[in-house]
Amino acid sequence: MSDRRPIGMFDSGVGGLTVARAVIDLLPHEDLIYFGDVERCPYGPRPADEVRRFAIEIMDVLVAQDVKLLVVACNSAASTALDAAKERYDLPIISVIEPGVHAAVAATRNRRIGLIGTRATVDSGAYDRAVAETRANVTLASRACPRFVEFVERGDTTSDEVIALARGYLAPLREQEVDTLILGCTHYPLLSGVIQYVMGESVVLVSSAEATATDVFAALRNRDLVSDQRLLGTHRFISSSVEGSFSELGIRFLGPEFGEVEHHPWPHEART
Ligand code: DGL
Repeated sequence: MSDRRPIGMFDSGVGGLTVARAVIDLLPHEDLIYFGDVERCPYGPRPADEVRRFAIEIMDVLVAQDVKLLVVACNSAASTALDAAKERYDLPIISVIEPGVHAAVAATRNRRIGLIGTRATVDSGAYDRAVAETRANVTLASRACPRFVEFVERGDTTSDEVIALARGYLAPLREQEVDTLILGCTHYPLLSGVIQYVMGESVVLVSSAEATATDVFAALRNRDLVSDQRLLGTHRFISSSVEGSFSELGIRFLGPEFGEVEHHPWPHEART
């Protein structure tokens, strides 16, 4: 048994490309469709019901392309829309939250885990619930870092300004002596240099990208959905905006697999 349909994946912008990179590395023969909702990015400051509506609209687009599995490569969307998505689609759906939590629980030595994410993700309590479900004897200290996404979306991952911002956001987590920090937003692995620099080298940064890719691999194998094609997979990239930064950052953050960007405009009333 094999299944040559593509994997569908989305984020509000370029952040989910960190997950795409990890999935392509583990599953090079799979076709992939990636949707970046650049026109409506950022999701983080938006109310939960709006983020949920956006996520469902994108998943409807991907499901119409006959994908075999959905990857919610956006913590803000996973925090708010996962239950609705599981009810709506008869497909395996992988989110970035549980894989990151499991990796952090395995990595912590002093049992103090930190979480950074968007306002939507932190306020949803989704990580607190996922940690509680592991029944591990750990504490979770959360901190929203709302302005990180705008820096990543404009490609600034090294400036004095972003380091100063990180110092402010991360100070409480340093005081609480977390030894493991979950990057609970798929944009944040692109700021790993800054975050590790500010937190100090003894803190383990957990990017859910690799852990999510491992879950995608297992989900395809367990359901006999792995493609049997021998050639490298094809990768399609769709953006809701015509603006060029997605292409520029795509090449920088994903690498040579990043190709031409297709435009999927939302109807006027769905834009905000
Ligand atoms: N990369 C996203 C996340 O994982 C969303 C960032 C945003 O749009 O605010 O939460």
